[in-house]
Amino acid sequence: MSIHDQLFTSRRVGRLEVPNRAVMAPMTRSRAGADGVPTPSTATYYAQRASAGLIITEGVHPTRDAHGAPGCPGIYTDEQEVGWRAVAQAVHARGGRIFAQLWHCGRIADPRAVTPGLRPVAPSPVAARTPLPTPDGPIACPVPRTLTTAEVGSLVDAHADAAVRAVRAGLDGVELHAANGFLLHQFLSANANLRADRYGGDVSGRIRMLLETAAAVAEAIGPDRVGIRVSPGGGRYNDIEEPDARDLYPALIEGLAPLGLAYVHVVEAPAAAGFSAVDLVRPHWPATLIANAGPDRRWDATDAATMIEAGRADLVAWGRLFLATPDLVERFRIGALPNVPDPNTFYTPGDRGYVDYPTLERLQDDPSRM
Ligand SMILES: Cc1cc2nc3c(=O)[nH]c(=O)nc-3n(C[C@H](O)[C@H](O)[C@H](O)COP(=O)(O)O)c2cc1C
Repeated sequence: MSIHDQLFTSRRVGRLEVPNRAVMAPMTRSRAGADGVPTPSTATYYAQRASAGLIITEGVHPTRDAHGAPGCPGIYTDEQEVGWRAVAQAVHARGGRIFAQLWHCGRIADPRAVTPGLRPVAPSPVAARTPLPTPDGPIACPVPRTLTTAEVGSLVDAHADAAVRAVRAGLDGVELHAANGFLLHQFLSANANLRADRYGGDVSGRIRMLLETAAAVAEAIGPDRVGIRVSPGGGRYNDIEEPDARDLYPALIEGLAPLGLAYVHVVEAPAAAGFSAVDLVRPHWPATLIANAGPDRRWDATDAATMIEAGRADLVAWGRLFLATPDLVERFRIGALPNVPDPNTFYTPGDRGYVDYPTLERLQDDPSRM
């Protein structure tokens, strides 16, 4: 067996049998309708990428107050559920598997994108010290409204309700977005969570919101349909400080382990963190681990296969390469180069840069595109 074959062996992930180890990482594409409903193009986009071992969708809002940027979909209304049903059907018709990433922005929210009448909410009234990119240029992050203890409990339940909708829509499961500085990550962090109630304070208080959410979602749809994304070390997004990451993540992961979840998805820490997030989590996690390089590194197919062979990860997620290359798995298999992603169309409306990246087959038919 060559090292490369590691990428093309099947594996059980929760209740799914995945045919290869290449996961499509969650990527916001800002192309939903104003009501947060995914469009027919969204179904086409994900169906084009159905050969991934597993697709994790863009962040999908579980509640009305979770929005933070324009054009992002939700899964809290009947219309949104119908939209996701079409996406799930399109991916399954092409033989794929798809989890929805549940994403609450918390304090990282453009107030104009939050549902009218609502204010961004967060563990504590602390604005992130980072410019917030918007279609009109960067703005200062708002000071969020503090969630009451009762509201935190309601948000836990709301994640479970959204997960039920996702499964009812035919999606294979959900991933809780506890990475990159958004709400669930804000609860974990020492500088965004200054609460004095049971959801703040020491490590055991700060991990409580995520543990309760994971347990509620697992109870609602079955633990083998639930994954969690974390980025120990803060990543480089959204003003998160985690001076105690080496204590917090082992405690968190050990708290999650008995739930029997499908997977943990770890974004590798930036070099500046001084440790590997993947290697921090692995010894504490008995089940499937998906690793993603994060924004500052590049992993190719050989890097991924080497990690899998060494037991550091079970699957590897790629973001931008999957965005640009619908047939990425086939290109890995035959050693062909992927397409080049165009950052100018990552978040722009319309089909350009969304559903028009060519497969190798199309490139060979029309060499002018190469
Ligand atoms: C356009 C774009 C949108 C993204 N949106 C999300 C998101 O909604 N949720 C998330 O967890 N990560 C998001 N990310 C981060 C990616 O999942 C991934 O961690 C990052 O791109 C690094 O992996 P890569 O080098 O393979 O692209 C996004 C990245 C990009 C490029």
